[in-house]
Amino acid sequence: MTSFRTDYLNPFHAYDEGNLSWLAAAEAEAATMSMVRRAIPYASSLEEANKIVRGNWLQAIEQHHQKYSGKLKIEDILDIGCSVGVSTRFLVDRFSSAKVTGLDLSPYFLAVAQFKEKERAQRMNPISWIHANGESTGLPCKSYDIVSLAYVLHECPRRAIVGLVKEAFRLLRPGGTIALTDNSPKSKILQELSPVLFTLMKSTEPYLDEYYLTDLEDVMKEAGFVNACTLLTDPRHRTVMGTVPR
Ligand SMILES: C[S@@+](CC[C@H](N)C(=O)[O-])C[C@H]1O[C@@H](n2cnc3c(N)ncnc32)[C@H](O)[C@@H]1O
Repeated sequence: MTSFRTDYLNPFHAYDEGNLSWLAAAEAEAATMSMVRRAIPYASSLEEANKIVRGNWLQAIEQHHQKYSGKLKIEDILDIGCSVGVSTRFLVDRFSSAKVTGLDLSPYFLAVAQFKEKERAQRMNPISWIHANGESTGLPCKSYDIVSLAYVLHECPRRAIVGLVKEAFRLLRPGGTIALTDNSPKSKILQELSPVLFTLMKSTEPYLDEYYLTDLEDVMKEAGFVNACTLLTDPRHRTVMGTVPR
């Protein structure tokens, strides 16, 4: 618990309190949009860039699940590290018959996520929001068909990455799919980033080196997942997926 507290309370993204602040919560959606903009610079708008990045990620998850789940219906989805709910809203829009839950460690981010949902027309399948640590959620085992972690792991030390993947394994049903999407170490754009920009990025992302040095497919296999595979889902990001054995 002590190490988790120290990791999470470290200053990053240039906020002294990391993700535990209203300012970080207020600016999180803008930060997400600038991330997708950098991934798809030719898009005609931020919304289009977001649709491309998220659309490719959702398609990869759907195809992996169809191929390996043994026709396990997608009824329950958990979005760990949902932040202010951008990834969660894309998941619920794509898998519209599923019950989707967003989970995050920051109550500030969750408050913004809930506020944004209240502003829109009510959904047939409203999103549930949970404040918890994704490494030990306390949720019942084998209760989800898809567990997604989008842009979470580059913010985590290796210890937390391993803990999050193990918890996802516990939470998924046999045939269930884990999907980790984040920066790709094989991205030509990221590899060719100027040293000044890379140093600047590292100054606000304390665990970036640990993230890049962690083999996510190996972590998945060690947790018990099979069919581990990685797709470059846009020029900057990869989606690493695996299946719980049936
Ligand atoms: C960059 S944001 C994720 C963005 C969001 N998933 C999306 O795609 O738009 C990373 C989030 O992971 C959360 N996070 C980091 N470690 C966590 C943990 N152990 N449990 C739950 N949430 C965590 C942070 O609070 C933050 O909201």
